[in-house]
Amino acid sequence: SMSAAASEDVPDMGKRTVMNLLLVGALGLPGTSLLGSYAYFFVPPSAGGGGGGSPAKDANGNEVKIAPWLETHQAGDRSLTQGLKGDATYLVVKDDGSSIENYGVNAVCTHLGCVVPWNAAENKFMCPCHGSQYNFQGKVVRGPAPLSLALAHADISETDVVVFSTWTETDFRTGLDPWWS
Ligand code: FES
Repeated sequence: SMSAAASEDVPDMGKRTVMNLLLVGALGLPGTSLLGSYAYFFVPPSAGGGGGGSPAKDANGNEVKIAPWLETHQAGDRSLTQGLKGDATYLVVKDDGSSIENYGVNAVCTHLGCVVPWNAAENKFMCPCHGSQYNFQGKVVRGPAPLSLALAHADISETDVVVFSTWTETDFRTGLDPWWS
């Protein structure tokens, strides 16, 4: 329900609106109304998750399957999906194009929550709001963002669906415990 979805995990409307615009643009669905995708993002991912993780979803709300994703996303691609708790999360296609990396990069800027676009030419995630920059893995390299972008595990299920789950282990980019879990 709306009341359940509007709980603690749902950030402010400004952030959501930015995210929806980016997702619609990134996934090439100009026919999707902002209102429609706005409503879509208030649907809790996989009815609240559970222990096994949540399938990555595209802007239509369909689960991401690995084979068609790789057919339509080149080596090195970083494109947005709907991740854990509804956060926009990048899937990263390996540099050899063979599969995706086993981590997704949460697109929510650690400064004030804008969704951070990928800039392929610069090989960085670059926040348009206040100029924070993150490297190709989402490690912060320029403030004001205080922290790197959050990680999520990205695994492929037996049915070839990309599944996100919480990253609780050491952050391989910093050697530190994750700040997000
Ligand atoms: Fe990204 Fe401020 S919200 S730099």
